[in-house]
Amino acid sequence: MWAELLPVGRSAASGGYRRFAWNSADAECRAWFEQQARGRGLAYELDRNGNQWAWLGDPTAGGAVVTGSHLDSVPDGGAFDGPLGVVSSFAALDELRSRGAEFTRPLAIVNFGDEEGARFGVACIGSRLTAGVLSPEQAYGLRDADGVRLPDAMEKAGYDPTAIGADEDRLARIGAFVELHVEQGRCLAEGQPVGVAGAIWPHGRWRFDFHGEANHAGTTRIEDRRDPMLTYANTVLAARKKAKQAGARATFGKVAVEPNGTNAIASLVRGWLDSRAADERTLTALVEAIERAAAERGERDGVRVELTRESYTPVVDFDGPLRDRLAKLLDAPVLPTGAGHDAGILASAIPTAMLFVRNPTGVSHSPAEHAEQADCLAGVAALADVLEDLACH
Ligand code: GLV
Ligand code: MN
Ligand code: MN
Ligand code: MN
Repeated sequence: MWAELLPVGRSAASGGYRRFAWNSADAECRAWFEQQARGRGLAYELDRNGNQWAWLGDPTAGGAVVTGSHLDSVPDGGAFDGPLGVVSSFAALDELRSRGAEFTRPLAIVNFGDEEGARFGVACIGSRLTAGVLSPEQAYGLRDADGVRLPDAMEKAGYDPTAIGADEDRLARIGAFVELHVEQGRCLAEGQPVGVAGAIWPHGRWRFDFHGEANHAGTTRIEDRRDPMLTYANTVLAARKKAKQAGARATFGKVAVEPNGTNAIASLVRGWLDSRAADERTLTALVEAIERAAAERGERDGVRVELTRESYTPVVDFDGPLRDRLAKLLDAPVLPTGAGHDAGILASAIPTAMLFVRNPTGVSHSPAEHAEQADCLAGVAALADVLEDLACH
């Protein structure tokens, strides 16, 4: 089943994936999921927020054990971030069936929509809507880089955008959610294929708009310029320096320039900051320091700086008893992570845990992302053990 998914949405040029919410590659991934569900005799369900579910047992019975992840990617993402969790979920179910496991609770596999937020700028849209931490009105206001509104993209892909919103009844029927994910970073050593998540760092996305003045690249004297590129560049340097001092992370990975001409000084530079830290105080102080540095530099450059917070996820401490139960069952280490996940969104509503599968280089959000096959198989076995422990006793 892994082999069928591998070519979907893969760019021949980069070798990375471009599976973005509601695009054609996303549709192919969704078709794959439905086929995997139906092929196993599971009841297939599409929820009001575009998340896909595959049920074994009665979805209305309550106390369900749910596992899964996402199938979308960042621009030129790797093969594992997301899909490893979904594929491993189906493989773990196959393993449990071959063990003759008898389920005492309903089991579901889920594919959450738009986890990476690559298209509309907000991550985990499917789980945020379900948990009610993103309102339908906020979602309706989101646009992609071409100005396409989220509800229009959804409708074009054949989904009903009028139904989106919090789904308390669904969450109330879930007893536990476990997401398996490739490790992003390098905490697990060789011979340690699987870890259990302890906490997710608080993180968010901020948009900096640097407003300058377009002018001729050849004729405008240096002292007459109001060049937002200069303010932007200095802000990037300041962010890196201040993040390093704080033991935190600050990344400008996306930028848009207007009018974007080689021989014109830019009128506007829009840079997106992704920042994360081990605790919220450090993160808040860091973003404030970056904002101050941008404003000070902007004043020197004659550039007006505007800051908009686009999304924010507070620190997530995963459910203590569930985390300890999994770590003991698997004899696995407990790790913190700086990456966001649907599990982090759901953790405020239901007992939630995560398993990480070793990533030998730690590289993620890149075509070079990798996990060894033996470690992936160990991850499937671990997930099967966990599901058996939670759903069969
Ligand atoms: C998602 O993977 C994120 O942490 O940005
Ligand atoms: Mn990711
Ligand atoms: Mn992911
Ligand atoms: Mn993620």
